[in-house]
Amino acid sequence: NEIKLFCPATIANVSCGFDVLGLCLDSTGDEMTIRKMPEKGVRISKIIGQDLPLEAEKNVAGVAVLALLKEVETTFGFEIEINKKIKPGSGIGSSAASAAGAVFGVNKLLGEPFSREKLVEFAMMGEELASGAPHADNVAPALLGGFTLVKGYEPFEVLKLHTPKEIFATVIHPQIEVKTADARSVIKQNIPLKKAIIQWGNLAGLVSALYTEDYGLLSRCLHDEIVEPMRSPLIPGFYKAKQAAKDAGALGSGISGSGPSIFALSKGEETAKKVAKAMAEVYKDFGVDYDIHVSKIN
Ligand code: HSE
Repeated sequence: NEIKLFCPATIANVSCGFDVLGLCLDSTGDEMTIRKMPEKGVRISKIIGQDLPLEAEKNVAGVAVLALLKEVETTFGFEIEINKKIKPGSGIGSSAASAAGAVFGVNKLLGEPFSREKLVEFAMMGEELASGAPHADNVAPALLGGFTLVKGYEPFEVLKLHTPKEIFATVIHPQIEVKTADARSVIKQNIPLKKAIIQWGNLAGLVSALYTEDYGLLSRCLHDEIVEPMRSPLIPGFYKAKQAAKDAGALGSGISGSGPSIFALSKGEETAKKVAKAMAEVYKDFGVDYDIHVSKIN
């Protein structure tokens, strides 16, 4: 009648896959407790760590569960408590962790009527509330683990990709807030064909590199021709951090989701730690506070 969950942080876009590619971190996440309650519906009873709305219709977890409950008959409801450890606006899927965790837990308590893929669609409704766009590149890896690809939105299709065990992520969160909705508003709606060609070549190459575990190819594909140049002005020190990651041996780096967190991928944990040190130096010099961590992709 009760379930306790770890709701992982995620990195969306992963440079060349805006709104389609994502990966799941195992070092950071929220904690959630969901219990059955006699009244139907969903009640967010407590949120620790952040000041977020408790009304179900205004809360990403609430909205995601309400979307799920529209498709199943129940004689009871659900009460949710969230210990919010991922800061909203940090760029590592804070809203996605809540939405994904809530539908995952409710599905378990219902005896798993829905597939993980279907849960991604419900969780996406929470993302729509948070950012104005129902993107699934954070909720998909949060629910499926590892690297994931949204093959298409209409009709919705999501794939779990092969995830090499040796890839580690470094994520630095400079303490400035960038709202996803704002970071989406700076993106131009039309892109030159030349840039699109480079981008889809990189995305296809990256997927191939994951399956063949070809780190050289992976490194050559970790670029974003389209969105990163438009968003980077929102993140002071971004190009310095990128250069520092490269010099320390990272395979590549970019904006994590809509920022301001910056991620780097490395082969091996030792390199990922060196990259963490190098990126931290950049923000120390800048006098900007930061959180930094190294994580397995799981
Ligand atoms: N793909 C989304 C974006 C992720 O970049 O706006 C937001 O976390």
